Amino acid sequence: EKGGYDYFMLKEIAEQPKAVADTLLGRIDAFGSLRLDELRISAAELREVDKIVVVACGTAFHAGMIAKYAIEHWTRIPCEVELASEFRYRDPILDPRTLVIAISQSGETMDTLMALRHAREQGSKVLAICNTNGSTIPRESDAVLYTHAGPEVAVASTKAFLTQLVACYLVALYLGQARGTKWGDEIHVVIRDLSQISREVERVLETMEPVRELARSLAAKNTVLFLGRHVGYPVALEGALKLKELAYMHAEGFAAGELKHGPIALIEEDLPVVVVVPSPRGRSVLHDKIVSNIQEIRARGARTIVIAEEGDEAVVPYADHLIRIPATPTLLQPLVATVPLQVFACELATARGNEVDQPRNLAKSVTVE
Ligand code: M6R
Repeated sequence: EKGGYDYFMLKEIAEQPKAVADTLLGRIDAFGSLRLDELRISAAELREVDKIVVVACGTAFHAGMIAKYAIEHWTRIPCEVELASEFRYRDPILDPRTLVIAISQSGETMDTLMALRHAREQGSKVLAICNTNGSTIPRESDAVLYTHAGPEVAVASTKAFLTQLVACYLVALYLGQARGTKWGDEIHVVIRDLSQISREVERVLETMEPVRELARSLAAKNTVLFLGRHVGYPVALEGALKLKELAYMHAEGFAAGELKHGPIALIEEDLPVVVVVPSPRGRSVLHDKIVSNIQEIRARGARTIVIAEEGDEAVVPYADHLIRIPATPTLLQPLVATVPLQVFACELATARGNEVDQPRNLAKSVTVE
């Protein structure tokens, strides 16, 4: 059932190109427009939405953080993202014009379920992004967009995450399309890029041997830090979460701009720091900022592990280890940048003799509070 792989996690990492393609299947028409009639929320209702709130836990929360960048950019609707466990215990401001998006692989996470119940009680519409057909969260939501990752068995979420990202992009682009924002042309280009992205994920998977080698060489370390900016920030958090749950190492993700506000004090000789570098072609100011962050930490002794797109030469002098990913539009970069971090965590866990599919103290779905 593991299809020749040692662990479900390895199988699920390898299945990502297909999972991404399957999640797009049938949702883009021959004219390059999105068809999401399955949402059962009318275009008129979507035009009424004046606020979006994304709620989720763990890895799904990281997908939600990335969704915020995409939603606000393509729709200009204010979007908040919150841990479901925090959202439900405060007094969030919700009304019938708020669209709540609940993201969950299992569809059974108690905190996310409670958050959506609370939202519906306030009259808000809830859209679930879910991987499990007929589970509780989609059953209790007004609408659902299923991710088509197939069953995910390993406790550490991989292919579900990539498909959650795809679903979030689809929702953001669809809202943009329905509301006719000034990004109309860009939306068409991005839909085209998205329809080709599964091949890029496949290319990343073909070049992972050096990442595995690097992971094995770090098996005796205690700490790994992760830095990112913009959508690279949630990717850094996701890389750190994978490493915590699988390798049982101290791993922390930071927004690179926060370095000087504290975390840079942690940098010491030979400390591994993974840096997710945005495309130099998009918002080049983001790129330049992170290159100087890499210089700063390296000058203080960090061992820099740099994830940067092919052709980005500016990072080369400051990278102790360079992991190349294909060039993609900035907002879509998490789909390719996360994959090396999954492979890195899985290999480190193996090198440390840990149980990859069933990490200690964790369950696949958290149905208790
Ligand atoms: O089933 P859900 O997507 O609601 O689960 C949410 C989290 O429990 C889950 O993503 C968890 O953080 C994973 N073990 C991360 O790999």
